[in-house]
Amino acid sequence: MYGIDAVYLAFNCEPALLENAVEAMRSLNFMGFNVTIPHKQNVLKYLDFIDPEAKLIGAVNTVKIENGKLYGYNTDGSGFVGSLRHQNIAIKDKKVLVLGAGGSARSICTYLAVEGAKSISILNRTQHNAELLINHLIASKCDTKFDLSKPINIYYEKYDIIINTTSVGMWPDTNFTPLQGFPFCSTDIVVDIIYNPLETELLKNAAQMGAFTMNGLQMLAGQAVKAIEIFTRVAVEHDFAVNILFNS
Ligand code: ATR
Repeated sequence: MYGIDAVYLAFNCEPALLENAVEAMRSLNFMGFNVTIPHKQNVLKYLDFIDPEAKLIGAVNTVKIENGKLYGYNTDGSGFVGSLRHQNIAIKDKKVLVLGAGGSARSICTYLAVEGAKSISILNRTQHNAELLINHLIASKCDTKFDLSKPINIYYEKYDIIINTTSVGMWPDTNFTPLQGFPFCSTDIVVDIIYNPLETELLKNAAQMGAFTMNGLQMLAGQAVKAIEIFTRVAVEHDFAVNILFNS
């Protein structure tokens, strides 16, 4: 449909062999590659250029090879923001609650801040990890206000957007939700980055109370669209990527 003459393949790579794998792809003149856990941070030292936002996040998941040089990007957060944009959800001046403080939360929070979120509250099982994330975000010197949320506080606050980045509710433990008994309302936007199942317990509860919900497939599609654009400079439709992911 887009006339892209390319093939996308998956390879396993032992951490100790990452440099060899990267140099092999450079030598063979690959168009580019994606990296995932556990290589997202380790790959940084083999790259020639790192996009400013990927630098801010401290991790790369997409590498473009051009004229023998390696250019690193992070499409986790931009894919997420792109999927919200696709649903006409604006981030500017919004009050956001983020559940979790891992790698996904770091990418997403960085982009929410870049897009002008008014405030981001982080709620995490391990408070120390939330503090580390907040310190990292504060160092980015953007205008967004960051704070650590306590479980009890969230029931008294009103957030515009609630985002789950934890694995709570993911298959096979699909009966769990990170927000037990939370009073959602019809103006809430609730996003879960989990895509297995497509409707987590969290999204089910939120939808039952009239909230707008979005699942992780949209973020995955947003990341794919962004990566294809980086590799090929072709702008692929978001829904085209959603259909491929949904039917695969
Ligand atoms: P990812 O790259 O997908 O973000 P990660 O970096 O391992 O994965 O982060 C997982 C997040 O889910 C963390 O915030 C983790 O909380 P801790 O910092 O306390 O480990 C959270 N998480 C994972 N399992 C959880 C559970 N059963 N209950 C609550 N939080 C959980």
